[in-house]
Amino acid sequence: MRETDIVALEGVFEAIPSGLIIATLQGEIIRMNKSALSILHLDPQQSFRHISDFPEPVLALLSVVTDGTKTNIKRAERTILLPDSNEPSVIGYSLQTSPLESGMMMRVLIFSDISRVMKDRLAFDKIREELYQSKKLASIGAMISGVAHELNNPLTGISMSAELTRMTLERLKRQLGQSAEPAIITKLDAALREIQKVDQSAKKGASLVSDLLGYSRPSKLNLQMVPLISLVEEVTQAILTHPEFSQVQILLTLPDPEEFMVKDACLVLVDRVKLEQVFYNLYKNACDATGGKGVIRVSYHLLKRADKTMIRVDVADNGPGIDTTALERVFEPFFSTKGVKGVGLGLSISHRTVEQHGGALTVTSKAGEGAIFHVALPLTQKEDLMNE
Ligand SMILES: Nc1ncnc2c1ncn2[C@@H]1O[C@H](COP(=O)(O)OP(=O)(O)OP(=O)(O)O)[C@@H](O)[C@H]1O
Ligand SMILES: [Mg+2]
Repeated sequence: MRETDIVALEGVFEAIPSGLIIATLQGEIIRMNKSALSILHLDPQQSFRHISDFPEPVLALLSVVTDGTKTNIKRAERTILLPDSNEPSVIGYSLQTSPLESGMMMRVLIFSDISRVMKDRLAFDKIREELYQSKKLASIGAMISGVAHELNNPLTGISMSAELTRMTLERLKRQLGQSAEPAIITKLDAALREIQKVDQSAKKGASLVSDLLGYSRPSKLNLQMVPLISLVEEVTQAILTHPEFSQVQILLTLPDPEEFMVKDACLVLVDRVKLEQVFYNLYKNACDATGGKGVIRVSYHLLKRADKTMIRVDVADNGPGIDTTALERVFEPFFSTKGVKGVGLGLSISHRTVEQHGGALTVTSKAGEGAIFHVALPLTQKEDLMNE
């Protein structure tokens, strides 16, 4: 190999973005490129002649070089806390063992910081999971709608027959008039009361069916531009007047205007009534969870995405929280742990409402540490209004 080729190879060696360390099996460093130093947050002024010259957390990664048990490693990951770093980094690496001309074995370690990729992967998994949840909810909705339709006809039939029977009995009572035996009149009255009960039950059933149909067939949104902060304040004030909330504290933290850069208000394009219901449901659940004596904290956060800015309202309570099994099911229709006191529709309807607005309703909670519901909505910025 010519001198010029060696210089060219040196250039390639230094230019590659991955970290590269060549060492002997005993840990002596033969070569190391600049990327290796920067990826591992190492001081370029310091000389590293042996693996043992590296600081402790980095050593944990480099020990694979002297660890003779594995000759080659195709792809592996190691999480380490790099020098001057607050968060652990994930380092992806491969290790090759090759003989030198002298017969000595050398080890080539190639690595890069894949923390960003890992974070994206986690974010992707989360989105996929949320999508799966929405699809599951949608299919349950379709099933409910089918069953509700089937129930509608027999319930209407029962109601009509009850009404006809009631009319017949009333007529009979009138025809019998004063001359009828009191025992017969008593029996007729009893039958009338029973038929009334049948009618009431059928009507109750029909009303539930209509609720179900409403649930499975989302109504159209009546959209208007609304200042979100005022909306939340209004719902909060309204709910605090309710006796059930007399011992509940709701603490609203206003967003930092500098961070938000939205001077007047955080405007959102929403169906006011439906969105108020979402906050009502969240407050009601927090109240239930804390036995009517809890503290609910509401805060705002800006989420800047590539294509849009979202505003996220967090509703956090100091109740018992939600265990992992229940956490997976809270948005499912009819999932309730409240027995007869809960239908289990509050969160599933709220979830759908927020999604209808192009947002997302999510929850984070650990048993014993309270629950936080996150309502994220697309924020309308001043520029959007001017462009209209
Ligand atoms: N803040 C909270 N803390 C603890 N558990 C909660 C909280 N919010 C909801 N849950 C759990 O999620 C379940 C489902 O909530 P959801 O609002 O859908 O139904 P529900 O409150 O039981 O009945 P409904 O709202 O229809 O009257 C609740 O029964 C409860 O177990
Ligand atoms: Mg509820």
